[in-house]
Amino acid sequence: MRVLGIETSCDETGVAIYDSECGLIAHQTFSQTTHVEYGGVVPELASRDHIRKVIPMIDSLLKQAKLQANELDGIAYTAGPGLIGALMVGAVIAKSLSFAWNIPALGVHHMEGHLLAPMLETTAPSFPFLALLVSGGHTQIIHVKQLGSYDILGESIDDAAGEAFDKTAKILGLPYPGGPHLAQLATQGDANRFDLPKPMIDKGLNFSFSGLKTAVARLVHANLTQQDKADIAASFEAAVVDTLCIKTLRALHETSLTTLVIAGGVGANQVLRQRMRELGQKNNFQVFYPRLEFCTDNGAMIAYAGCQRLLNNQHDEGFEVRARWPLSELSIVRV
Ligand code: KG4
Ligand code: ZN
Repeated sequence: MRVLGIETSCDETGVAIYDSECGLIAHQTFSQTTHVEYGGVVPELASRDHIRKVIPMIDSLLKQAKLQANELDGIAYTAGPGLIGALMVGAVIAKSLSFAWNIPALGVHHMEGHLLAPMLETTAPSFPFLALLVSGGHTQIIHVKQLGSYDILGESIDDAAGEAFDKTAKILGLPYPGGPHLAQLATQGDANRFDLPKPMIDKGLNFSFSGLKTAVARLVHANLTQQDKADIAASFEAAVVDTLCIKTLRALHETSLTTLVIAGGVGANQVLRQRMRELGQKNNFQVFYPRLEFCTDNGAMIAYAGCQRLLNNQHDEGFEVRARWPLSELSIVRV
């Protein structure tokens, strides 16, 4: 089965074609830059940019894949969670193409897409596994029993890890999107200079990152040198990575799972990737990541997740997008 994936949940337009026999055939991502001057995503501008981009990108994708529309068997689009207007754009285009081309369409859960993104790699994890899902909107530790069976073992009670990166970057005067800029600045800094808080690390699997941003705000004053800023960035990054590692190790221990998947935008962070690899070697668990470009939002993960569900004869009856959508509501897929 050959599936077109469309991702428009936030500020990345992603399209891809996944084939259940041959794997990923082609993919394209466009990262919107219109938000830079506002220091964050402006939902209405995001929707308008998706409208401009999706159809030309699908045309270009089909050319790149050397395929005609009638060689596609289904369409998967992100139906939530995300910005409602942005989701509507992808959904309306997917549904229209599905009617025009007479193939089924299916709304996919964005976070299921992230969770399954490592399946696009040649060495993919097998079920069951533990997943650390770290994005701009979510920080969750999930026991993935099989496709569609997701037990949330822990999550952030306030800011998500990516949100903490973005807000702290803003406090440091870095441009949007903050996470990658902060990580870049941190490479020049001393992570031991500032001892920043790691809330809730002593017990449990929940996270709290909002205090960390406040602690950074207290360190910031008008006369900071570039080195001071780099040291704050490195100390902040170390505090987040330490917290994520401590909680993840605890969850692996409690579940006796030996396979770990790290997914979502913060999964692109090199310090986190390196630390988890080292921990895996010491503690005998295997770590799987998506390739860097599939950590952040992309159409390939949506095409993959949609394909698994379409293969199971799932498809949309009606048409609904959801700004909020708990992963626990998804149905189990036997593959
Ligand atoms: O998964 P994603 O693309 O979108 C959501 O579903 O939220 O994640 C975006 C988040 C942003 O908060 C961004 O700052 C963060 O991932 N991010 C990073 C890095 N690259 C992206 N955070 C830390 N280090 C990075 N290298
Ligand atoms: Zn995402």
